[in-house]
Formats: sequence, structure tokens, C-alpha cells
Amino acid sequence: MQVDLKDKRVLVTGGTRGIGRGAVEAFLDSGALVAINGRTTESTAKAIAELGNAERLISAPGDVATAAGCEAIVNNAIKDLGGLDILVNSAGVARLGPIEDFDEAAWDQMLNINLRGTFFCIRAALSALRESNGNIINLASDVGLIGASDLVVYCASKGGVVNMTRAMALEFAPEVRVNCVCPGYVDTDMVRRDGIERASDPAAEEQSLVDEAPLKRIATPAEIASAIVYLAADDARFVTGAAFQIDGGTTAG
Ligand SMILES: NC(=O)c1ccc[n+]([C@@H]2O[C@H](COP(=O)([O-])OP(=O)(O)OC[C@H]3O[C@@H](n4cnc5c(N)ncnc54)[C@H](O)[C@@H]3O)[C@@H](O)[C@H]2O)c1
Repeated sequence: MQVDLKDKRVLVTGGTRGIGRGAVEAFLDSGALVAINGRTTESTAKAIAELGNAERLISAPGDVATAAGCEAIVNNAIKDLGGLDILVNSAGVARLGPIEDFDEAAWDQMLNINLRGTFFCIRAALSALRESNGNIINLASDVGLIGASDLVVYCASKGGVVNMTRAMALEFAPEVRVNCVCPGYVDTDMVRRDGIERASDPAAEEQSLVDEAPLKRIATPAEIASAIVYLAADDARFVTGAAFQIDGGTTAG
């Protein structure tokens, strides 16, 4: 599907790697101008150099874990892009473990990045998005819709993203659409480097992730990015408040 987003102004948080990076590539292919956020200036500069489309990319580094960080990222992106049409909140972290492993600092870190960061980036972007009749896509998860053991804190953060998306869709309508995508396992650093490769038996770990999905594989970042670009485009002009599962069937039954 070729989507025309020529000269649309896009900010992707967590755009240096993984799903966010896939979304940046898909937006570039659609003709958009894209501000890439990652935690550091070095990480955004490296991503821009690797993507090789520097005239359509700007750097918007900063930490989404604080409200001040979110405001700085969003305000700089709006200034450099000359406004904002599309905000994608992809910055996120995941950690497995029983709840005994999660003290207050670990809870705060996950909730601050995944849920609070999404809220404060949206809050900072809202007036620019109202001006452009723009839209927002949040990265939730299949486990924002169903529970998973050893992922209690992550589930709490992503369940929050799903229902916050719905509430915002109501509050911002009709000017600004708000949707989220709910991927199953996707082949990114979050899953491969921080999960599969750290397991005592990586091949068995990968097989167990593959077996969880009825479609018997994990997704590519590009498969999530094409849904993000669809939701961002005019084709989805009657879609708001949706939680779009792209999970190979994990939440189907
Ligand atoms: N990979 C999966 O299987 C999967 C499944 C469902 C949902 N998700 C969600 O999709 C999103 C992207 O995940 P991914 O797999 O691409 O992860 P990733 O680890 O590959 O990339 C995460 C990105 O977020 C950025 N980031 C992390 N903390 C940040 C902070 N405090 N401030 C600014 N940027 C920060 C990183 O720099 C990186 O660019 C996350 O919200 C994740 O929870 C991922």
C-alpha cells in the first residue's frame, strides 16, 4: 500500500530503533518530513546518518521519562518542522520478572517511560495537532489487552496506554484522531537483544515466542509500521479510539 503523506510533519519518539525506526522509514517512503527522537543526540545523529535521507529528517533528542523532557522534545520538533501533523509515541521499555523483582524505582521507570511519557508528549503536542487537524498513534501492546505473567508492570503500562487512547479520542474529537497499535512479539532489540539472546537457551526461547502466535512467527518492524502509516493517513479519517491488534492472532481467543 503506497500512502501519500507528502510534506506531513511527523514526530516519532523512540524513532532511533525498532518499531519507531520502521515507522520513520515508512513515513519517509510516503514523502513525510520526520523528527526522530531517541534518548541522546548521538543516537539520533547515528540513526539519521544510517537512514541517509538527511534533508527530510531532523533530530529531536531527549528523555520522555519526565514531563520537562517531553515538552522539550515536542517543542523543538514543532519549531524545526514548522508545526506538527502526526505524533507517534514509540519510546518504550520492557522488563520481564515476577513482581518481587519490581521495587518502586523499577515500577516508576517503566510507567514513566511507557505511560507518563506518552501522556506528556501528547499534552505538549496537542495545540499544534489541533491547528493541523492532526493525529496521534500510540504504541500499546497485545498485553495491553490481555494479561501475561512476569509482565505485570509492563501490562499495567500498556493497558493504561490503550484506555488513555480511547479517552483522548473522545476528548480531542473531532479535531484530532487518537489510535493505538497493539503488536505481539516484534523482531527488535527489545525482544531479540534483551530477551532471546539473554535466555539460557536462545533457540528454545525464540521457538516459545513463535509458538505463542497462531500465525507461528514474530512480526517485523515494517509490518507494524505499515499499520501506523495507515492510521496516520487520510484513509483512516473515520478511525479514532481504535486499538489495532497486529499480533498474529495472540489476542483472538
Ligand atoms: N518489540 C515488541 O515485541 C513490542 C511488542 C509490543 C509493543 N512494543 C512497544 O513498541 C514500542 C517500541 O518497541 P521496540 O521493540 O521498537 O523497542 P526498542 O528497544 O527496539 O526501541 C525502543 C526505542 O525507545 C527509545 N527509548 C527508550 N526509553 C526512552 C526514553 N526514556 N526517552 C526517549 N526514548 C526512549 C529507545 O532509544 C529506542 O529508540 C515500545 O513502546 C514497546 O513497548 C514492542
